[in-house]
Amino acid sequence: MIEKMQKSKDYNKLLKNYNEDDWKKFVEFSDYGYNSIKLYEDENVFLKLICWKKGQTTDTHNHPNYHSCDFKILKGELIENVFNKNLLLIDSNVYRSGDVGDIEVRNRYHIVYNESLENAVSLHIYHKNIVF
Ligand SMILES: [Fe+2]
Repeated sequence: MIEKMQKSKDYNKLLKNYNEDDWKKFVEFSDYGYNSIKLYEDENVFLKLICWKKGQTTDTHNHPNYHSCDFKILKGELIENVFNKNLLLIDSNVYRSGDVGDIEVRNRYHIVYNESLENAVSLHIYHKNIVF
């Protein structure tokens, strides 16, 4: 995955084609909140695996250092509520296992949580490429 990320900037396609289970060895859940595990970072890209127990949630946040995030749900289900810069709710998305998405993360705020009854795992590529 990391080698492919260094060769291609089409992260969306890369995630769609990613069907390996090498991520499983990094999975670690925490009782104290969602667990974000850094897998790789360079000047353009930040790859992380996030492990969510049921009920775990982020705060409302944006990602000022990155333009976009491509992600894949590897296990479970996550909900994302999206806010504009005035923190008014503008969208709500449900992502299920196998779903791949790309979102703009600098100028929009979001809160992501696992409301389902099972644990969830998601893979995120934050990057500085403009894909919109
Ligand atoms: Fe986020």
